[in-house]
Order: sequence, then structure tokens, then C-alpha cells
Amino acid sequence: MARTLTFKIFRYNPTKENDEPHIDTFELEETPRLNLFTALHRIREKQAPDLMYDFVCRAGICGSCAMMINGRPTLACRTLTADLADTIELYPLPFFKLLGDLSVDTGVWFHDMAKRLESWIHTTKEFDPTAEEERMDNATANKIYESERCIECGCCVAACATAQVYPDFLGAAGLNRVGRFMFDPRDTRGEQEWFELVSTDIGVFGCIGMMACDDVCPKDLPLLEVFSYIRRKMNSGVKVAVTEMDLT
Ligand code: SF4
Ligand code: SF4
Ligand code: FES
Repeated sequence: MARTLTFKIFRYNPTKENDEPHIDTFELEETPRLNLFTALHRIREKQAPDLMYDFVCRAGICGSCAMMINGRPTLACRTLTADLADTIELYPLPFFKLLGDLSVDTGVWFHDMAKRLESWIHTTKEFDPTAEEERMDNATANKIYESERCIECGCCVAACATAQVYPDFLGAAGLNRVGRFMFDPRDTRGEQEWFELVSTDIGVFGCIGMMACDDVCPKDLPLLEVFSYIRRKMNSGVKVAVTEMDLT
């Protein structure tokens, strides 16, 4: 027999005068292979036309549908109701600016993070449009590819205790971005430059290493591997910094 699901959904529209954060309850008949994307659409169609949430790709690619599902940050479009209990609690991701109900603005934070990290290849080489493509060994290309798989969903940042305390913390998504450019032999930034950029409490040294980010990342990025690499590089940066200090 089909289950009747109870949805308890956080509601708040900051642009609506006198609106207060509250929980609305909706009931929905479960159908085979129902995912939260379809469930939320059905609720919006029949019960709450003003319900706000984000979806674009419906395939775990765009990262826009991340929300707290029974207390865990994850992608709604990849979540089947069959894997959840009869009562489903939905909240927006913490940390990011709330736009309304389940919709948050991750874009501003990711854009700011990309600017802070100068998230592009730094090179002194003149661009030569006639030059042959530079070769890269497979192992390095694969490492870069793995980090590039981040869909900027924000789940890792929402799950991160440090990010909740320090809003400027780079989070796993930011540290992963650092790793991506450190791996890249075309980026000429040296250990000292990286050290100055990320060796702070809002960079790699703010990370307490409990790996909640790794537990929730819906793309299974190798975050532990990336963090270890950055920490090793930072240790070299410390050595460089100490060597360059005038100890006379
Ligand atoms: S290991 Fe913990 S503190 Fe570090 S980025 Fe991941 S969730 Fe945040
Ligand atoms: S690292 Fe994983 S959890 Fe974090 S933003 Fe990228 S895909 Fe999402
Ligand atoms: S709608 Fe794109 S990841 Fe869920």
C-alpha cells in the first residue's frame, strides 16, 4: 500500500512584510520512484503555489537543489522518498543567504571565494594561439579532473562546523579549489604564494579535519586526499618562510 508522506517544510519569505519563519506541513501520496524534485513540484502545484526552492538540471549536475533533508545537506533531485521515513523535514542550507523557504543564494559566496583564491591559471607565458597544446601526464590530469567535478552545491560548507563560526572560512569547496590549482603544473604560483593565501584560520589551518564535508559531498570528491596534499604543501611553505626570515 502506498505511504502517505508528511512534509514539514521551513517557510519564510524575507521580502514579505510581517512574515515570520515557521514550518508548514503537507501530505502527499508516495508514488513509485518518487524523488524530492517531483514531490516538491506536486506540493507546489496543488498545495503551496508560493513555495520557493531551486532546481535546474534534475540530474545531480547543477548543484542548485541542495537543502537540509532530515538534518543532512544533500541534493533533493537525487533523493528518493523511498529512502526516507514517512515524515520528511526540509530546511534551507544554513550559512548561505536565504532567498526564501528552501532557496538560498550560493552564487555570491562561490563567486567571492573564486575571486579571493584568484581561481584562474597564473602564468607568465605569453599566449600563443598557434602553439601546440601542452601535454600533461594522465595522473595529473586525473587529479585536476577529480577536483573540477565539484558542482558548487554548498553541501560541504553547510555541514562544516568551522564555516558556521567563521563566515570567511574557505570550506571544503574552497580548499578543493586551492588543490585544483596547486595540482596544475601550468599555474606558476609557488609554495610561498600559496602559503600566504591559505595558511590562516579562515584557510587550511581553520579546518578541524573531522571530514563532515567528505561525508556529505554528493559527488564523492576525494576531499581527504586534497586536504592532505595542501597541508603537506603548507608545511613546505612554513619551511620556506622560516628559511627566508632574518634571524640575525
Ligand atoms: S574537515 Fe571539517 S572543518 Fe574541514 S572543511 Fe571539512 S567539514 Fe570543514
Ligand atoms: S566539494 Fe562536494 S559538497 Fe562541496 S560544493 Fe563541491 S560538490 Fe558540493
Ligand atoms: S537540480 Fe541540479 S543538482 Fe539537483
